[in-house]
Amino acid sequence: MSADALATAVIAAAGSGERLGAGGPKALAAVAGRPLLAWSLAALEGAESIGTVVIAAPPGHEEEIGAIAGSASVVPGGASRSESVANALEGVESEPVVVHDAARPLAPPELFDAIVGKLVHDEDCEALIAATPVADTLKRALAGRVIETVPRSELWAVQTPQAFRTQPLREVLDADAVTRAAATDDASLIEAAGGVVRVFRWDEPNLKVTSRADLAIAEALLKNRP
Ligand code: CTP
Ligand code: MG
Repeated sequence: MSADALATAVIAAAGSGERLGAGGPKALAAVAGRPLLAWSLAALEGAESIGTVVIAAPPGHEEEIGAIAGSASVVPGGASRSESVANALEGVESEPVVVHDAARPLAPPELFDAIVGKLVHDEDCEALIAATPVADTLKRALAGRVIETVPRSELWAVQTPQAFRTQPLREVLDADAVTRAAATDDASLIEAAGGVVRVFRWDEPNLKVTSRADLAIAEALLKNRP
């Protein structure tokens, strides 16, 4: 962290991790010798652009999360991911804000710094989001029958971190519960409000740990890091 650090990082860590099925919150599941959340915390610790970190914790697990949070603060998460982010954003004054999923343990400090730096210096967008061009062929299917092949040249697989100007993010997160529950990321709320979102190309591994198989891949990649 640097003295002139600008951004606050919000870590969405309040999910229950049902698909992983680890018998507890995904953020606390062990990956390569550490809780999943600890990998993102370490990356943010190493990022020069980040001043403070706020973690949205699974309600009822605030103490366990607090035990690994170091200098980061912990707030209870909400019923949806957006609600968790909104809770963590309460009282945050800094500009900009970076939102990151605890489920992505591979995002390195350089990625946070690059996204924050570019958002701060590019005047013409409300949000800048890590993303990679889609490599697979994509098809739309209804009840198992393929309807069409979707041209993929304009399609991006979106990740976190996502950096935002603070006030626009706060405004769009002040949505009703249905809108919040439907949003799988925060940038989609900015888009729906007519804001400009730009992609920041990131082709390095940055997978989201959803299943047991993802966890095994993340573990292998983290263990082999220099
Ligand atoms: N998340 C959150 N608050 C919620 C739901 C999800 O902060 N109410 C966070 C998760 O902790 C995760 C990220 O949003 O870091 C992406 O969600 P996902 O991968 O779906 O995690 P879970 O909801 O925990 O997993 P599942 O859907 O399998 O239960
Ligand atoms: Mg979920």
